[in-house]
Amino acid sequence: MTIQLNDSTLLKTQAYIDGQWVDGDKGETFAVTNPATGEHLADVASVGADETRRAIIAAEKAMVSWKALPAKTRSELLERWYSLIIDNQEDLAVLMTAEQGKPLFESRGEVAYGASFIKWFAEEGKRVYGDIIPSTADRRGVVVKQPVGVVAAITPWNFPNAMIARKVAPALAVGCAMVLKPAAETPLSALALVELANRAGLPAGLFSVLPGINAQAIGGEMTSNTIVKKVTFTGSTPVGKLLMKQCADTVKRTSMELGGNAPVIIFDDADLDAAVAGVLVAKYRNSGQTCICANRILVQEGIYDAFIEKFAAAVKGFRVGNGMDADSTHGPVITEKAATEIHAKVQSAVAEGATVVIGGQAGSQGACFYEPTILTNVTDKMRVFREEIFGPVAPVFKFSTEEQAIAMANDTQFGLAAYLYTENMGRVWRVSEGIDYGMVGVNETAISSEVIPFGGMKESGQGREGSKYGLDDYLETKYICIGGLNR
Ligand code: SIN
Repeated sequence: MTIQLNDSTLLKTQAYIDGQWVDGDKGETFAVTNPATGEHLADVASVGADETRRAIIAAEKAMVSWKALPAKTRSELLERWYSLIIDNQEDLAVLMTAEQGKPLFESRGEVAYGASFIKWFAEEGKRVYGDIIPSTADRRGVVVKQPVGVVAAITPWNFPNAMIARKVAPALAVGCAMVLKPAAETPLSALALVELANRAGLPAGLFSVLPGINAQAIGGEMTSNTIVKKVTFTGSTPVGKLLMKQCADTVKRTSMELGGNAPVIIFDDADLDAAVAGVLVAKYRNSGQTCICANRILVQEGIYDAFIEKFAAAVKGFRVGNGMDADSTHGPVITEKAATEIHAKVQSAVAEGATVVIGGQAGSQGACFYEPTILTNVTDKMRVFREEIFGPVAPVFKFSTEEQAIAMANDTQFGLAAYLYTENMGRVWRVSEGIDYGMVGVNETAISSEVIPFGGMKESGQGREGSKYGLDDYLETKYICIGGLNR
């Protein structure tokens, strides 16, 4: 065994369907590897459409009694799950760093972040209110909120714990059941999470986890099965569009948390040190592999040179390495293919005239490493402006006026997160309202938490996760007309 856990029984390699740990019907498996070392970590069961269908049927059955429970009882069970996650935070973090690569301190943070959604929705699930609408003298309109039904979730590898928790917690809290396909790169975190849910006492069938490399078979069943009433997905925009098309045939509800192309706009009047610190987090967290990562750094001409100097000095201080090493500040990217794609974007920018201030090469630590990179002399025609980089590469653009900054920020089909640094209150409002993004960080880039509505506009998706708004995505609004009140 290559992963050392305090509780080795958290390392699960089978699928979890209808309360049972099972192999795939065909006995197929897929390998999970450590991106930092290339080491083989585990062979995990690979399921297909048949197993997915069984999980969906089990979910429908389990939901009957689950949704009938008082919200308080569901909440108590979620609270138990939350406590078990916190008790096992270190093991969950080790599993995550092993399969995903992020430094251990980031993994510990993500486990706590994921758990916070379970605690939050354990509370919020008790606050699903309706309305009474006064109409005519002899009737009243009653509006009740009901669980949407069986939910299918497909989650990414960049946050192997938190993106699951952010979906499953509100679903279960309001009375839905869920079947989940975790990313093939990071199934171990998902399987450990469901093991803890099982220990917390979650009824069989309520939450099944379906690892697999045949995404088309699993996703195809999830999107076509009439029992599934909602599909929630975090991942790329092209895959999100495909899932939405597939869901159209059975008119399923969807929530999509898709790609981003976040600008950080830094004005001449900004607190420069705060802006540099903010960009370091927004760009290089998880080695640049978050949907809300700064993709385009837009700096006003008056402070451009000073910004580059301070920013480059800070990036030089990074220690890139195996996330298990205590002194690593940044880990690998997820696969060699990802590192190659990141390098292709850098090379294409350089070929079109960009200057590499720092980095610009594959890392020397292993096949999945890429050097933290800063590019200047970049233009809005380059791929690094137009496309999501999803790696540790920071292109820094120059602008002159506020109007130009707003136009540059909006010049993308994406609209997830954006950030701005300024000390001018009027500008804070003008720019925040003028840019088309679901989330705007003002003088702050660490914007995520369980209490805020996370989600995007335009081709970055639809729906919100976290906060009180995060419940709506798992609820139907039903109107009941009660008439004859004067009889
Ligand atoms: C994401 O990359 O989709 C999630 C980032 C976050 O929750 O902060």
